[in-house]
Amino acid sequence: SAIYLKDYKVPPFLIDKTELTFDLDEATTIVTSRLHMRRNPLDGKSNAPLILDGGEDVKLIGVAMDGYALPEEEYQLVDDKLIITATADSFVLTCETLIEPQNNTRLEGLYRSSSMFCTQCEAEGFRHITYYLDRPDVMSVFTTTIIADEARYPVMLSNGNEIERGKTEEGKTLVVWHDPFPKPAYLFALVAGNLAVKNDLFTTQSGRDVKLQIFTESHNIDKVDYAMEALKRSMRWDEEKYGREYDLDIFMIVAVDDFNMGAMENKGLNIFNSSCLLASPKTTTDDAFLRVEAVVAHEYFHNWSGNRVTCRDWFQLSLKEGFTVFRDQSFSADMHSATVKRVEDVSFLKTAQFAEDAGPMAHPVRPSSFIEISNFYTLTVYEKGSEIVRMIHTLLGEELFRKGSDLYFERHDGQAVTCDDFVAAMQDASGIDLTLFKRWYSQAGTPIVTVEDQYFPEEKRYQLTIKQETPATPGQPTKLPLHIPIRVGLLTAQGQEIAAQYQGEVANDVTLLLTQAEQTFEFTEVPSQPVPSLLRSFSAPVKLHYNYTADQLLLLMSADTDGFNRWSAAQQLAVNELTQLIEQASAGQPLVMDSQLLTGLTALLADESLDPAMVALILALPSQAYLSELATTIDPLAIKQARQFLKEKIANALTEQFVQTYQNNIIRSEYQASAQHIARRSLKNMALSYWSETADKKGEAAVAQQFASADNMTDQFAALSIAVHSGHPDAATMLDAFYQQWKNEPLVVNKWLMLSASQDADDALAVVEGLMAHPSFDLKNPNKVRAVLGGFGQNVAGFHNADGSGYRFLADQIIVLDKRNPQLASRLCTPLTRWKKLKPALSEKMKAELERIMAQELSKDVYEVISKSLV
Ligand code: ARG
Ligand code: ZN
Repeated sequence: SAIYLKDYKVPPFLIDKTELTFDLDEATTIVTSRLHMRRNPLDGKSNAPLILDGGEDVKLIGVAMDGYALPEEEYQLVDDKLIITATADSFVLTCETLIEPQNNTRLEGLYRSSSMFCTQCEAEGFRHITYYLDRPDVMSVFTTTIIADEARYPVMLSNGNEIERGKTEEGKTLVVWHDPFPKPAYLFALVAGNLAVKNDLFTTQSGRDVKLQIFTESHNIDKVDYAMEALKRSMRWDEEKYGREYDLDIFMIVAVDDFNMGAMENKGLNIFNSSCLLASPKTTTDDAFLRVEAVVAHEYFHNWSGNRVTCRDWFQLSLKEGFTVFRDQSFSADMHSATVKRVEDVSFLKTAQFAEDAGPMAHPVRPSSFIEISNFYTLTVYEKGSEIVRMIHTLLGEELFRKGSDLYFERHDGQAVTCDDFVAAMQDASGIDLTLFKRWYSQAGTPIVTVEDQYFPEEKRYQLTIKQETPATPGQPTKLPLHIPIRVGLLTAQGQEIAAQYQGEVANDVTLLLTQAEQTFEFTEVPSQPVPSLLRSFSAPVKLHYNYTADQLLLLMSADTDGFNRWSAAQQLAVNELTQLIEQASAGQPLVMDSQLLTGLTALLADESLDPAMVALILALPSQAYLSELATTIDPLAIKQARQFLKEKIANALTEQFVQTYQNNIIRSEYQASAQHIARRSLKNMALSYWSETADKKGEAAVAQQFASADNMTDQFAALSIAVHSGHPDAATMLDAFYQQWKNEPLVVNKWLMLSASQDADDALAVVEGLMAHPSFDLKNPNKVRAVLGGFGQNVAGFHNADGSGYRFLADQIIVLDKRNPQLASRLCTPLTRWKKLKPALSEKMKAELERIMAQELSKDVYEVISKSLV
């Protein structure tokens, strides 16, 4: 039951206007739609039947055409579709449906979260509300009437502007919203509830006043100030960077507790998972503050990259997501440190997206087929999609890129378009040929780029020979060369930038364009054998191989002018070290460490000119997940053991420096979520985590002291995590105290659930089962499910227990959850999709669980992931 991109056809009908009425009630909600339809002039055949999408949870009460109630023999209901064979060329279709939002556990369409009604319609949720042409290339002007009991639902919101408010005959309140911008149904939204609001105002660059409103349940309204400021920064930034101004007179955001994803860009009425909106120093960590800012920006930016210009079909999802992620990453880079942001984004890409690209769900940024579109809101579509846009930015340069985006928005405003249209605008505006480049959209897998060099001293010539190869992925056995921009600089052995010549230009930072399987690039006027700084700023999403010596890595780490590559060199050094240790651990040999990494870290801690955030990032050892991605065969416990060994070695060798660093970075002034403060806290807490690994009892005391006295969640939670993961004698007491302190703050409780589930314990599984039975747990709430099961997934010893009990437990949860919430269940399958890479004893156990899931009656969502994993 897969759907293919190649089968795309224009819709046979269009819907010029959509009028909806929602009669909201606790027991049943009645939805009446009036669809002003006509045949699509672009569709050749004039007699195609009208086929409207619906859902098994939508009950049809009646359907009428131009006021004529259709008798049952004049329509059909087949596979959740409403089919009407005889239609005029233009008509008004009226449909009455009954839905039960209170029983909607899928959290798609209209559902209830706490005491409110809310919606999630992307990608195909609208069909769970009423029968419709639920596809993004059908764009319509929506007018929405909401009827509800004012006492329980004083706030009643939909897209656009409120144009009318009144009472019905039964005394209910009626509110009418009108959105003048045509939009696909996936951007529809409705909210009703007893909500508090924070108001603000933004004046656009052309001088229009926009009313800004953030709605939450009343106990959370004190936590929206940061999001409101982030929104205003986003609005200003989009004007300045992209020339994009907001277009309605009102922009609203609503926080809801039960939400499958992060947030949703519904026109004029964004709906957010409360975890991506609420922030206060006492309850929110620095990471979460930055995430709130990034998500607020992301959803706001969608108003142009997604809403004004939308996707023709869901294969084009990266058209809006890749571009919008690129935009939000650039925004965060401008608000804080660009290098830190780049390191974080790349680190995430190389850990999670590379793993996806190497697994059974690997797919191109523009997939060519899918069974369930919800499964394609992936790291590949989002993060690799953003890297593609970033490469276009690199190839065109800032100015031409802006010309390209201006042309794209101007050319396609109000349209539903494709990734090809996006690239065409970039190409037309810049005059740069992107024909070959477009392969990035259609070819899955991470290219491996191998670099070899040769220096000719007599001629002062230096050559880089670069090869590319992309490994096969499911359904794509052979791969073609891609157009890969590789930013390069050359350093002397002393660490000075070399001003060599490349193609007649001074080459202290050039972008080599790799377009073939193998190519040689030549630099002249190179005075001495250089150390190449390759793939600066991570100029392409590839795996780069060059045989660096440890000394070269140490040089790059301390002297490269590209901050990203300084981190990258340090990480490579740590990876080399850990790779050896993992091999030793896996073979049951004693672990022995080389000294180069220590040399580098000593210099790092002594260099006061560095951004503390960068020092912290370098000190963070490559993660369990990243090392698993790099491994050919994953031995989870060996990786864990190697990391722990290395961490203790470093901690003991550099104890003095860590104590100093800890003390130097304590902030005495009031909490600020500023780049500078965040940087110092991250380094301080990194130092503390090393200090706590030493035999020094003072380290333990410092952890306890910080936990007890912290005035912000970043420091309190850092101390707690360190205590839990370093086996602090008071860890259990601290976990308990933390829960008692924060049991009325659900978002903090989620952090407690996650940390508790990830703790190393002999009875880890029993701990997790206990958490799922804990009063604070709620199977209906995706954040809580993800906290516990996600935390358990990071519990190396518990999840990868040799007896397979960890895998069995996760499989059991997936089977149960699939009946309630298929999207959530499908996401939880990810760790199981890696079974082929695990060492044989574990691999077999994991495969058996996949087979057990496969034997159940499954949703399309879980079926797709599990069946593809078993191929
Ligand atoms: N468009 C939203 C965003 O990235 C994500 C919505 C995803 N929804 C889903 N059901 N997969 O901002
Ligand atoms: Zn998005």
